[in-house]
Amino acid sequence: MDRMPSNLTLYADLVEQELSRLMPEEHSLFQKEVFSACRYSLLGGGKRLRPYLCMTFYALCSGKDARDALTFASGIEMIHSYSLIHDDLPCMDNSDYRRGKLSNHKVYGETTAVLAGDALLNRAFEVMSSPDQKIEPANLLRALHVMGTASGAYGMVGGQIIDLAMEGRSCTADELWKMVELKTGALIWGACKSGACLAGASNELQEAAYQYGLCVGLAFQIRDDLLDLTGDAALVGKPLGHDAENEKNTFASVYGIEKCETMIRELTEKALKHAEAFGDGAEQLRNLALWLIDRTY
Ligand code: IPE
Ligand code: IPE
Ligand code: MG
Ligand code: MG
Ligand code: MG
Repeated sequence: MDRMPSNLTLYADLVEQELSRLMPEEHSLFQKEVFSACRYSLLGGGKRLRPYLCMTFYALCSGKDARDALTFASGIEMIHSYSLIHDDLPCMDNSDYRRGKLSNHKVYGETTAVLAGDALLNRAFEVMSSPDQKIEPANLLRALHVMGTASGAYGMVGGQIIDLAMEGRSCTADELWKMVELKTGALIWGACKSGACLAGASNELQEAAYQYGLCVGLAFQIRDDLLDLTGDAALVGKPLGHDAENEKNTFASVYGIEKCETMIRELTEKALKHAEAFGDGAEQLRNLALWLIDRTY
C-alpha cells in the first residue's frame, strides 16, 4: 500500500482546529444542544479528504500558502459532515455507527440530528462566504457557486435521491454511474474545483481539477462499496454488509469485486493523467490518488 501523503495529517490537524473555532461549544439555552450535536460529528475523526483537496488545489494554482483556503475548506468538511449525519438516519441508510462510534441520531435523537445537519450546511456557507479570508472576492464568489452546485440537487443531494430511489430494484449502468458521480463525486470534485477557483485558476486548470476530482471520487466510492463487503469492521468504523441489507445497488453488487478492483485502477490512472496539468505539483495529487487505491478506512 502506498504511503499516506505526508501533508495530509498536517492539513487534517489544521482543519480540526479551524472546525472547532468555527463551531465552538455553545452554552446558551437555545444553541447548546444543536452545537453539541454538530461538534459530535464534526470533530475528532474523518480523513479530511475534501478540505485537503481544496487547500492543495488552491496552493498548486496560486503558489500561495494553502492556509489561505483553510476556512473555506473547513466549510466543505461541514457540508460533508452534514451529509453523513443525514445519510445515517433511519429514513436513509439507517446506520447506527459512524467512525466507530454511535451515529448522530443514536446519541441526540432524530429531530436534533436533522437540525444539526441543517445547521452545519448553513454554517458552512456562512463561513465559506466570510469576507475576512485572504481570497479575492471574485474568486470567492466562483468557488461558492461551485460548492452550491456540488452540494445540492445537481450534486450530492441529487445522488442521494437516486441512491434511495434505486433500493430494492435493479438499475442500469448509467443510473449507477450518475448516482456515484453525484452522491460522492460531487463533494470531491467540488473541493478540487473550488480550490482552483479560489486561486483564480484558468478555465483549463479548473476543468483539470474537476476531472481529477471526478475520477478520484468515483474510485473512492467503489472502494467504499468494497469495504462494506470485505473490509475490517474495526478500521472501517461502520457496520459491514449494510448495503446488501438495505438492498442497495453498489458497484460491488452490479460489477463484482474483481471488476471493481480493475475499475479503481483505471480511474486512478485517468486521475493521474489529469494531474499532469499541474506540473511539478502533480506529485502531491499523484500520492493522494495512489494512497486512496488501497485505503482500508
Ligand atoms: C464517507 O466519506 C462517505 C462516502 C462518500 C463514501 P469518507 O470516507 O471521506 O468519510 P470520513 O470523513 O473519512 O469519515
Ligand atoms: C454516502 O454513500 C454518500 C453521502 C453521504 C453523500 P454511502 O451511504 O455509501 O456512505 P457510507 O457507506 O454510509 O459512509
Ligand atoms: Mg448512503
Ligand atoms: Mg450510508
Ligand atoms: Mg457505503
